Formats: sequence, structure tokens, C-alpha cells
Amino acid sequence: MGSSHDTLLAAVLLWLHLFFILIISARAKVPAIIVFGDSSVDAGNNNQVPTIARSNFRPYGRDFAGGEPTGRFCNGRLATDFISEAFGLRPIVPAYLDPAYNISDFAVGVTFASAGTGYDNATSDVLGVIPLWRELEYYKDYQKRLRAYLGDWKAIDTLSNALYVISIGTNDFLENYYSFPHRRMQYTIDAYQEFLIGIARNFIVDLHGLGARKISLGGLPPMGCMPLERAQNLANGNDCMETYNIVAMRFNAKLYDLVMKLNKDIPGLQLVFSNPFYILLQIISKPSLYGFEVSQRACCATGTFEMGYTCSQRSLFTCPNATKYVFWDAFHPSEQTNRLVADSVVKTVLSKFL
Ligand SMILES: *[C@@H]1O[C@H](CO)[C@@H](O)[C@H](O)[C@H]1NC(C)=O
Ligand SMILES: *[C@@H]1O[C@H](CO)[C@@H](O)[C@H](O)[C@H]1NC(C)=O
Ligand SMILES: *[C@@H]1O[C@H](CO)[C@@H](O)[C@H](O)[C@H]1NC(C)=O
Repeated sequence: MGSSHDTLLAAVLLWLHLFFILIISARAKVPAIIVFGDSSVDAGNNNQVPTIARSNFRPYGRDFAGGEPTGRFCNGRLATDFISEAFGLRPIVPAYLDPAYNISDFAVGVTFASAGTGYDNATSDVLGVIPLWRELEYYKDYQKRLRAYLGDWKAIDTLSNALYVISIGTNDFLENYYSFPHRRMQYTIDAYQEFLIGIARNFIVDLHGLGARKISLGGLPPMGCMPLERAQNLANGNDCMETYNIVAMRFNAKLYDLVMKLNKDIPGLQLVFSNPFYILLQIISKPSLYGFEVSQRACCATGTFEMGYTCSQRSLFTCPNATKYVFWDAFHPSEQTNRLVADSVVKTVLSKFL
């Protein structure tokens, strides 16, 4: 009788102990931000890869600290840089392959992202950039280095309380599916979306298996409104390409369903969906409400097709003040837009981790 009572008491105590550990870890401060994705969140990994998908030259980075062109596809900082700052971490998230940083920097923030990549391996092949599966290999390497640097316990604590941000997918449609016939011959647009969702699902399951808990999955922007796509929409007076926006909305709905399902299926996972679509569409359609003057053309060069090497210092047309522009180059938002999108996502979605 006494011994079964003791056993029960021990079980209750153990249960309480686990319960408090769960509560504490669920509410623990975010000690690091760890990023995967494409040019929306690449801070210079592509500088170390033989590809033309680069931006480590002026005028890129002209509004970054020291006017430095880091390889961010922007005049200044990216949304993930602002998110890191909002979490009380550093104001920038450095690229894992950037030799200017080491593990003491990466212990609080790191991005494995590569401009031009996608969920689909065939997308990263187009410009010879880092495929998503290899971003995860770099992350495994990072885990080893972090354990050597912080010790096992501190490293595990960091990895399980970190905020993981995934921002990828636009290139699968614009650089791959709609630019080359290969995937279009294999898949209808709906089947292609399902194929990508399967890859996203496996990626999140793998990331969770490696210890990640707090994960933000990013939605697609209204990609038909990028200046590059507008420039091709001559028939409709350079309006947004409605088809691409509809594809983005449908894909976002599928990503949202995936998030709901994974949260149900995987206990302890705290997966959220960060959707930039509506805030961006609002900024693009009513720029003056947000302090912008131009949303149809980008700041760099003619603002209609230039990005990467074609967005050159030699262009006489580049705007003097990118803060007035929603887009910095034909495919990427300006720093000011990144700031507004980051603010919106932090307030509406990521605040549960703050
Ligand atoms: C990282 O680099 C800084 C200087 O940039 C140096 O002081 C520090 O010792 C380095 N840390 C490691 C772990 O290599
Ligand atoms: C992408 O390539 C990697 C490495 O070859 C492979 O392991 C993975 O299965 C591929 N992904 C898909 C969806 O085919
Ligand atoms: C750039 O434009 C912004 C927004 O219109 C304005 O606040 C800022 O003062 C301008 N900067 C310069 C250097 O003119």
C-alpha cells in the first residue's frame, strides 16, 4: 500500500516536473534566429557559390551599414534582419558561408539561404545555386560547430528555443515552372503545387527531427506584381499579372493547410504561417498610405527588368532615394518594404514567440 502510494507520488512529481519543463521551454526567450530560403533571406551565401545570382556589388547595399554590398538583394536590410532585431537579437542575420563571421556570431543568428533556389531541386539547378536539401546539410554542420562552441546542453537549449524562419517558393514558379517547359510537361500547376507541398512537409519534419520547435513557414508574395512581371504584361497596361497572384494565393492556402495539419500530427511542434501576401498587396496598391511614392517600377536602373548584374552602378536611371520605392530591383522589395513586412509579421504571427 505504502509503496504503491510512493510510486504514485513519484509519478505525479515526475509528471509535474515534465510539465514545468514544457511550460518553461514553451515560454523561453528566443536565443537565436535560424533562416532557410531564397534571395528574400540570403545575406551573402551566393558570394561563395559559382553563380550569376549575385548582388555583392554597388548599388546593392548602398543603405546598409557602411554602404556595404553584402549579397543581400536589397539596398539595405532584409525582413529577417528586422525580425532578429525585434527579438532583441542582432540587427543583422549573417550568411553561414560569409568568411567575415564565425560561430560566435552564428550562435545568435544565421542564414543558410541561397538566392535563386526553391523547394524543387530543378529550381536550384537553373542558376546553379544551393538546393534546399543542402541548406539542411549546412544546418547539420552548424549544429556540430555550435555544440563544440557552446557545449552540448547550451547548444541543445539554443537549437530547441531558436526561431526558425523559412522563406522560399517564388522561384519554383517564376524561374522554373513558368520559364522552362520541363516541369510544365510533367505537372499541371495544381499537381506541381502538391509536389512542392510534399517537399515543404518533409523539410519541416526533418527540421523538427533535428530539434527545431518554433518554426515560421513563409507564404508567397503577390508575385504577379513584381516589376519584372508587370513589364511583361504589356497587353494589360503593365498591370499585375493576375494569374501569378492567383497561383500565389492558392499555394498559400495549401501551405496554411500544411501548417494546421503538421501542428496536429507532431506534438510539441509550434509551426506558424507567416503570410506576406496581403500586406504587400496593400502596400503595392496604396503606396502613399505607407509613405511610398512608386510601386510599379523599382528603384534600380529603369526599374522594369534589372536585378543582379543588370542592376549596375553604371545605370544613370537609378533613383536617388529608395525609401520612396516599394521595390528596390525588378524582383526584390526595398529595405523600407522589408521593414514594414517584418513589423506586420512580428505583430500578427511571431508575437507568440516574443
Ligand atoms: C570570432 O571572431 C572574432 C573577431 O571577429 C574573434 O574575436 C573571436 O575569437 C572569434 N570566435 C571564434 C569562436 O572563433
Ligand atoms: C533532391 O536532391 C536530393 C539529393 O540528390 C535528393 O536526396 C532528394 O530526394 C531530391 N528531392 C526530390 C524531391 O526529388
Ligand atoms: C528619402 O525619402 C524618405 C521618405 O520619403 C524621407 O523621409 C527621407 O528624408 C529621404 N531621404 C533623403 C536623403 O532625401
